[in-house]
Amino acid sequence: MTVEQEIPLEHRNFVEQAVALAHTVEGRTSPNPPVGAIVRRDDSVVGAGATQPPGQAHAERMALQAAGPAAQGGDLYTTLEPCTFHGQTPPCTDAIIAAGICRVFYIAPDLDPRMGAGATAVLNKAGIEVHRLPDPGGAVAALLAPFRCRVALGRPLVTAKYAMTLDGRIATVTGESQWISGPASRLQVHLLRDRVDAMMVGVGTILTDDPLLTTRLDNHWRTPNQPLRVIVDSRGRTPLNARLLDPMLPGKTLCATVDPPAAWVAAVERFGASVERLPADANGRVALPELLTRLAALGVNHLLVEGGSTLFGALAAARLIDEVWAFIAPKLLGGATALGPVGDPGIARLSDALTLVTRRVERHGDDLLLVATAAAAPWWDVV
Ligand SMILES: NC(=O)c1ccc[n+]([C@@H]2O[C@H](COP(=O)([O-])OP(=O)(O)OC[C@H]3O[C@@H](n4cnc5c(N)ncnc54)[C@H](OP(=O)(O)O)[C@@H]3O)[C@@H](O)[C@H]2O)c1
Repeated sequence: MTVEQEIPLEHRNFVEQAVALAHTVEGRTSPNPPVGAIVRRDDSVVGAGATQPPGQAHAERMALQAAGPAAQGGDLYTTLEPCTFHGQTPPCTDAIIAAGICRVFYIAPDLDPRMGAGATAVLNKAGIEVHRLPDPGGAVAALLAPFRCRVALGRPLVTAKYAMTLDGRIATVTGESQWISGPASRLQVHLLRDRVDAMMVGVGTILTDDPLLTTRLDNHWRTPNQPLRVIVDSRGRTPLNARLLDPMLPGKTLCATVDPPAAWVAAVERFGASVERLPADANGRVALPELLTRLAALGVNHLLVEGGSTLFGALAAARLIDEVWAFIAPKLLGGATALGPVGDPGIARLSDALTLVTRRVERHGDDLLLVATAAAAPWWDVV
């Protein structure tokens, strides 16, 4: 196997197409990672594919199937090393050998312990060349980050998203927050929801805002993904007429709780939502590490937390925030009691601050979006 330092020109277009395909299935493959693959014959793409929902074909098989006999003697580009083991589907290396592929180019190694000696050993044995190519602009690392976080830590990758004013408020002194950011920012939120597996709010946000937590993308090019909605509600305070419990809403709702009234549980379940009982933390509230472990077991790789301040405070204190999407609106609200994004308990010493690395700054309408990731996590940069 050879490892290139930068993508040679002759491969660049095919790699970019494979990465673009992986992006099309984000939020739709968990617990598997989103992967894209291209079959190249001479200078043409003869097959293209992306990971299907769990239990169905991986990207390589989709691309090979699309290529049919044209794959014979061709090259395969894939964003992730082809699997060598029988999971829910047979090994992709078998399909690559059977299709008569000559060369395989991949970007990220598959760190699954079931990979054995790896795809290179298996494919080389069948006379197939294998080359590793660099990650274009860190795109593959970012695509794989939620999957890798879950595999490494046994919990989903946590993205905290909020809209705040220029003076750092997420709500007015009376608790009003709809809407701090403008429509262009809110579109970005729906695009983000479209590619995560679950989204979560504290019961305080349900009581104040009564949000829908659905992905609303009009005239989108595909059916929007509706992530699992999670309410963190230790005692069953979610009103039974909350919009989020409406059985007609697309997608599913889960109430994470500790000690709720039996009648509330029965009513919530009648609406079709599930109730997950969890251990209590030291404050008698839902133990967040246990909740995240439970969500990982349900196949959640990427969890989007949409507030509010109390929940973000608890997540920050437990060092359970991996990424922040902060929409900053050019408004001033003031008020010493108006909430900031991250509430109690707070951090006493600046040297103990949760330190993030700025990844992107974008303008959406009059708002700024700043995306930052936890400095310590290896999966953002290294495939
Ligand atoms: N601008 C924005 O982006 C944005 C987004 C969301 C919300 N908001 C605003 O934020 C305000 C609501 O925030 P909030 O701080 O009052 O409530 P919150 O964070 O939404 O919910 C907090 C509640 O969650 C429950 N909870 C259960 N387990 C928990 C745990 N381990 N850690 C922390 N909380 C846990 C607690 O109630 P139990 O003890 O009863 O379980 C807690 O009181 C509203 O004004 C809303 O408009 C703004």
